[in-house]
Amino acid sequence: MAITSLQLLLHYIFRACIVLSLGLGQTNGQPETYRTIIVDQSGHGNFKTIQSAIDSIPSDNNKWICIYIKAGEYRERVTIPRDKPFVYLKGEGKRKTIIVWDAHGSITTSATFTSEADNIVAKGIGFKNSYNNPPTNKNPVKVAVAAMIVGDKSAFYGCGFFGFQDTLWDVGGRHYFNSCTIEGAIDFIFGAGKSIYERCSISVIAGALNGGGPGFITAQARSSKEETNGFIFKDCNVFGNGKTYLGRAWRAHARVIYYNTHMSNIVVPSGWDAWHSVGKENQLFYAEYGCKGLGSNNSSRVEWEEKLDQKTLSLFTSMEFIDNEGWMSAQAFNMLA
Ligand SMILES: *[C@@H]1O[C@H](CO)[C@@H](O)[C@H](O)[C@H]1NC(C)=O
Ligand SMILES: *[C@@H]1O[C@H](CO)[C@@H](O)[C@H](O)[C@H]1NC(C)=O
Repeated sequence: MAITSLQLLLHYIFRACIVLSLGLGQTNGQPETYRTIIVDQSGHGNFKTIQSAIDSIPSDNNKWICIYIKAGEYRERVTIPRDKPFVYLKGEGKRKTIIVWDAHGSITTSATFTSEADNIVAKGIGFKNSYNNPPTNKNPVKVAVAAMIVGDKSAFYGCGFFGFQDTLWDVGGRHYFNSCTIEGAIDFIFGAGKSIYERCSISVIAGALNGGGPGFITAQARSSKEETNGFIFKDCNVFGNGKTYLGRAWRAHARVIYYNTHMSNIVVPSGWDAWHSVGKENQLFYAEYGCKGLGSNNSSRVEWEEKLDQKTLSLFTSMEFIDNEGWMSAQAFNMLA
């Protein structure tokens, strides 16, 4: 691919900015500057693969470090290991900088992207498992994870998660997703994360299933009433090409709330599926509040849907739910651009 002179110019401006910011160092009240590693498939950066850039970070890293990933489709599996926190992955857009792999068959071994460390931020990156995405590729439907987020204090801004079954494994820990696109058909946001999904696009591609669905957006995995996790969808948009449930219960105390979210007519009238919890629906915590659109019509919802009072609602939908110690503002303070 030819590099236009504009791209080259931007490249040098970018490099100059880094040199400048490194030169400034720490000054009173200024955010700490971080080192930037550039990944560029054309060879103009420090590395050609994302994993080799991560591998270059020392174990027990304790300073923010940015891996700037130039636009391109990166065909590799990427893992941030447990001992490399404070990594900021920065791409050029969720449909421009895309990491793609197609492993399948098991949730534990198929993820294209695995994040094990705490304090990870990603911005403008697409994570894709292409085994069944797009579904026109005719592979039989299998579990195929695009991203598996294990670490605590992880935030994703403007990222894309593309898959079909089990796209995003929100395993555990406190997570924030802002302006992300999450695409899939079956259980495509699943796990026991304590997460807020804000202004995200929930793209349902269940139209590729036999009979056009229904699929399941969430399979939340809160397993006891002592666990504090749950998925909160706030100001999101649910749309797509096939019928869907808002969720089915992977574990006995599954907790999901849709708040101020627009839902197109693809949502099935009953809304929720108890799955393994038939007969124990009273242990589930599924709620909707202030949602809009044809799919939000609650006149035929399962009668065990939770009714939220204002106090409970604000407990779950405020940022305090995932951050009462300031980790998010500390991250924002360190992200210069
Ligand atoms: C909600 O659905 C019921 C049953 O299908 C229907 O009678 C009612 O008009 C709908 N309400 C709105 C606001 O669309
Ligand atoms: C159904 O939705 C309406 C409009 O948002 C709301 O006022 C009402 O309380 C809801 N009913 C139940 C049973 O949740």
